This record gives sequence, C-alpha cells and structure tokens, in this order.
Amino acid sequence: MNRIHFIRACWSDIILLESQGKYALIDTGFSDAFSSRIDPYLKQLGVEKLEFILITHFHRDHYGSLPALLDHYPVGKVYMKKFSGLNISTSSGREASDEYNRTEEALCEAMCEQARRLSELVVIDGSFDRVCLGDFDFRVFGGSDAIREMYEAPDSPYYQQIRFGENTNSVALFADVKGTTVYLGGDAQNEALDYPRYSNQNDAYARAVGRPVDLMKVPHHGCGNLFSLEALSILRPRYGVVTNWTASLYSQFLKNVRLFKEASPDITLLVTDRCGYRFTLGENGQLSCEEINRIAPISVEEVSPDEDSLEEFWKQHIIYLTEDGIISGQEDIDYFSGEEYRGVIRSHMLREKDRHHLVYFVREGLRIGAASYCIYQSEDGKCFILDYWVFPPFRGEGAGHHCFTALKEYTKAQGAAYYELNSEGKDAVRFWRAHGFLENGQDEWGMPLWILRPLAD
Ligand SMILES: [Fe+2]
Repeated sequence: MNRIHFIRACWSDIILLESQGKYALIDTGFSDAFSSRIDPYLKQLGVEKLEFILITHFHRDHYGSLPALLDHYPVGKVYMKKFSGLNISTSSGREASDEYNRTEEALCEAMCEQARRLSELVVIDGSFDRVCLGDFDFRVFGGSDAIREMYEAPDSPYYQQIRFGENTNSVALFADVKGTTVYLGGDAQNEALDYPRYSNQNDAYARAVGRPVDLMKVPHHGCGNLFSLEALSILRPRYGVVTNWTASLYSQFLKNVRLFKEASPDITLLVTDRCGYRFTLGENGQLSCEEINRIAPISVEEVSPDEDSLEEFWKQHIIYLTEDGIISGQEDIDYFSGEEYRGVIRSHMLREKDRHHLVYFVREGLRIGAASYCIYQSEDGKCFILDYWVFPPFRGEGAGHHCFTALKEYTKAQGAAYYELNSEGKDAVRFWRAHGFLENGQDEWGMPLWILRPLAD
C-alpha cells in the first residue's frame, strides 16, 4: 500500500510517506508537534521505525520536531538541508537578527550532531537529486545552497549581500508512483531574480516535471509568489494540500486560490488546520482521500451577568491584560478592575439593544480562551471586539485561529455583519492580518483600528 499522510498542521509541514509497510517523514512541524500529533499518530499506525526524515529547509516549522523524533524513534537516515547562515528572515517572515542566525546555526549543528549519533546524516547539496522509499522514487529539486552561491559567486548581483530567507533554499520533490503523480513543494519560492540559475525556481521545477500532478503539497503554505499561471497549468494539480489556516487562505492568500483554480478548474484545495488528510495512491492517477486527526470543535459559552460568573471572568481578564502586556501601571489596573469600567460593561450586557457579550471558548469541556465584544445591531451590525485571548496553556497549534473562526460563526448568528478592533502589538497585528483585517484609521486614543469586512463571495 502506498499512502501519503498530511498530519494536521497550521503553517507547518508534517508529511508521512508510507510504502510497502515502510515509513518516512518529509519535515517535522514545530517542536510542539511531536507529542501532540506526530507521536500519537505514528503509534496509532503502529510505526516503529522511520526509514528516513528529510528536512526540506532549515526553518522551525519544518525541522522543529526532528530532535524529539530522533530521541524516540529509530531513524535510518536524516537528509538535512542545512542552514545557509546567510538568512534575512525568520521562519515566520520577520527580519532575522544576528542573534537569530547564530541560534539557528547552533541548532543546525546540534541537530546534525544528533543525527550523526543516532542515525546517519546525509547533508543535502547540489548532487542530491533522488530519495526513495518502497514504490516512491522522488526526484529532488533545489538541492544546492542557492543562498550561499548567490552570496559568494563574484558574478552574482547579490554578491556579499544578505538578501534571502531559507525558503529560497527549500527543496521540492516529485514522484511518479505507478502512474499517480505527487509533487511536494516544500517552501520553495518563485521569485524573479537577477541570477538566472535560481530565478523563478518553482516554474523551473514545474517545467522539469512537465506533466499534470494528481496530488500537490502547495509550496510555502499557499502564500507568496508560487507559480506563474503558465507553469502551474503544466502541473494542473487535482488535489492541492495547503498547510495553513483556512482563514488565511480565503483572505490574504485569495490571489493564490484564484491562480490554482484558473490553472486547474476542478482542483480540490484542502487546508490542514482542522484535520489532516491521508491519501491512498492507486495506479494511474487513482487517489482516495480521507480525513485524519480532526481537531475537537470549539464552542462559545456566554458569560451570564450574575455576580459570580462576572467575577470569575474579570479575574481571568485582569491576568490577561497585565501578563500579556496590554496594560501596565497601577492606574490602568485600577481602572480595569474598577466599578466604572466593569459597571458599564455589565449594564451593556443587560440592555436590549447593542448588547455587550463576554464569552469563553470551550474545547473538549475546557475553557481555553475568552473574548469581550459588542454588536451594534441598531447601527450597521458592527461587532467591536474589545478583548480576545487564548489562555496561556492552550496557546499554539492554531488555537487562536480556531477560536476566532468559532467566534465569527457565533456572532454572525447574533447579527454581526463585520468586525472592528484596535490593536498595536506586533504579534497581535500579524494575527489579525492573517484573518484578513485591514488597517482602518485610529481610535480616539491614537491606537490603530482594524476592520474585517465580509468577503464578496
Ligand atoms: Fe514553512
């Protein structure tokens, strides 16, 4: 049996290959994925050994669980695309500081050392062009260290310039498995460069493949510049697996959704945020898909305006405001703990129109987060979100995104037509942008306002 399992992941890749009872991994997700998803899933399948683990490029959302996997499973080989050392951005797209680069370099060395000790390390370089597992015989694109080459080549327009992130060094893989074709795009890019050898890499790989693919792991989480329409029309994927959040896909990455649908009108695009997908590969393009490890749904619990319930909510709220750095100083603490603020909210919870809501997010019977919002039904249905947070033990693995999706569904039923909030923290802004919020002026205290309008389609 030949199967490819895309284990549930938000903005990270964990791809388990299975052929004739043998298993291997392409990328390992973030470090928290091992205990929460990879290990339970491998145990469920009865996997005792991995033939290899291949790391497509040295970003945390791809190498994160490698150390834990090596510690817990026998691994035949580790194929490692090493850190270039000349990286301009972090795995989440932020500017990479010298310290970040030094840490990555040290981490890479430590992982290579661990792989040498516990497995067999094979460093991916320009000569690396194939990797096999049972019936899978993958052609590997992008083995060379493009970043270093463009930095060191005297004829390179990027000579001695730190210009690229590790995604530019990501490998991509293609296999024809008895007539069923698979393309795993890593985080490989399609940037137009003045160095022809690495310009529009994804287009070059598509042309090298030269035929339609049945199953594609869409490069780089569906985000950024992925393919030209002409090159993607060669691949015309039937299934596209996007390792991202659904919300992002349908807001800021809509451009790529359109591109994929234009190149391949019948494409099924699957997003791995709420569940993983397992594909069974038959011969000559036969492919069946089933869901795996679906995340428990999140429900919304309304806080009632009685004294005990409110007191419990406000206790969590003040912890959030102070520990997450939303407020600082005794004056702020006094204000948000005081009757003036809390009394207004309570009176707005009790009024008939434009009611205020305090809610918890609940998953598997546990409260994992909370929000405070008001819907102005008497106006145009604006839902203003005052506070929104996931309790610290439940952060990660896309919990914040899933809670917001649940909140949208819940508030829509209460008459919310669009959303507004104020936010200025870097991480918070990234979060809201990922959900499609756009900047919309400032509030009366000079704080940036963000707005999410419903999508036209
Ligand atoms: Fe990535």
